[in-house]
Amino acid sequence: MSPRDESPLTTEIAWTRPFTAGSGAKYIQIIDMLEKSIQSGFLQHGDALPPQRTLAAHLGVDLTTITRAYNEARNRGLIASYTGRGSFVMGGGNPDLPLNVDLAMNIPPQPANGSMTQQAGSAMAELFARHSIEALSIYQHELPPRSLLHAAQSWLRPAIGELSGEGLVVCSGSQAAIFAILSARTCPGDAVLCDAVTYPGLLLAAEQLGVRLWPVASCADGMQPDALEQACQESGARLLYLNPTFHNPTAHTMPLGRRQEIADVILRRGITLIEDDPYRYLLDDAPPPIATLTGRRNTYYLASLSKCLWPSLRTSFVLPPHGDDGQQLQLSLRASSMGCSALLLALVEQWINSGSATQLVQEIQRETRARQRLARTLLSHPYQTHPTGLHVWLELPTQWNQELFTHALREQGVSVAGGQSFAAAGPAPNCLRISLGGAKDQAELGRALQKIEALLNQDRRRESRTFV
Ligand SMILES: Cc1ncc(COP(=O)(O)O)c(C=O)c1O
Repeated sequence: MSPRDESPLTTEIAWTRPFTAGSGAKYIQIIDMLEKSIQSGFLQHGDALPPQRTLAAHLGVDLTTITRAYNEARNRGLIASYTGRGSFVMGGGNPDLPLNVDLAMNIPPQPANGSMTQQAGSAMAELFARHSIEALSIYQHELPPRSLLHAAQSWLRPAIGELSGEGLVVCSGSQAAIFAILSARTCPGDAVLCDAVTYPGLLLAAEQLGVRLWPVASCADGMQPDALEQACQESGARLLYLNPTFHNPTAHTMPLGRRQEIADVILRRGITLIEDDPYRYLLDDAPPPIATLTGRRNTYYLASLSKCLWPSLRTSFVLPPHGDDGQQLQLSLRASSMGCSALLLALVEQWINSGSATQLVQEIQRETRARQRLARTLLSHPYQTHPTGLHVWLELPTQWNQELFTHALREQGVSVAGGQSFAAAGPAPNCLRISLGGAKDQAELGRALQKIEALLNQDRRRESRTFV
């Protein structure tokens, strides 16, 4: 019988060995035992560790020795601890194996308990049992079915409040909506107002359509209302793009007071806001959308499901400005795509109605929180983020340039997004956006973050003096 076949508690402590006299402090020896067992594959990612008291009694040491060992093991990314659940192995796999981790794309992490696979699998089976294949084989480019509109209304209620459903557009992602709105509401050469550092999808859409992006100055609270007033006057722009909640890439959330001031300028100037809000449901403390402060006048509100649920759903709910029946947006969307997938929309509806969507958001939040804790442990340089945000925004130390850094990191098998991807105008910020969701698990993320930390600490100036 291998040790792993034994009873759970025996397995939990089977990795321990008697202490060796003269081999250093006992807590360090415990960490070494852990590390070796992970490297040998005896302990694997997700294995439970014994409660601290049990381990202290088994090894005949004080509780404080075990607490110290667990704390240090956590700092080294070997284990993770959860209040009420205990401590678990995070490592696993050989640390010398080459890495290939994409922390450049901002996707939600898979919940550690595999519930996405389970929820998607069982929901699909149920869909085929409940709907005829004919119903799932149509083009979904006309008005969404009433049942889906009801589901969308209940999804949007916590953010927007009660809705009639009138004008609500369902489209294949917020990127498609941004492109369609720009295309419907601008001509080549027109200016569109935005933050100086902004979501790259906006840059892409504007470039394709020949639209000029007009950056507006911000301060710690986000876009400045007086700068917005002035930009309206100088640019003649009729559209403003904002992502005020967990901004991509700066991770900043605009406070309520500033939202109110921006809403006032929008209404006074008669410009139209595209409020892109994909991250809201991952945060428990987001102020209300600007759309609620404008009374939805002059505001498109975009609620993608990609970040808080699953990018593969390719679904975004879009509320056009109050009084707009959504026809213009529908037409614009139809010019580039034959709509959403009926199959995926049926899945969305089922997940919302059954409560699975809310449950998945909570599980993604839980996993994101754990990944954020890991980042706090492994990255010593300051950065901006939120405890349940999908990415961190880190200013590089002066010895590094963002292009060189991202290149050097890629050579080590880790991709992150450099500041140049987000610059609407002017010099690119010397920053990195590190997305925490792309690694397949916390162990892989831990290895990638350790590479980032090591590279950040590398003194390139000293090295170049040595080699020149
Ligand atoms: C601010 C923002 N808007 C929109 C999107 C894209 O959303 P979707 O997947 O719904 O097209 C992203 C994706 O990174 C994003 O960060």
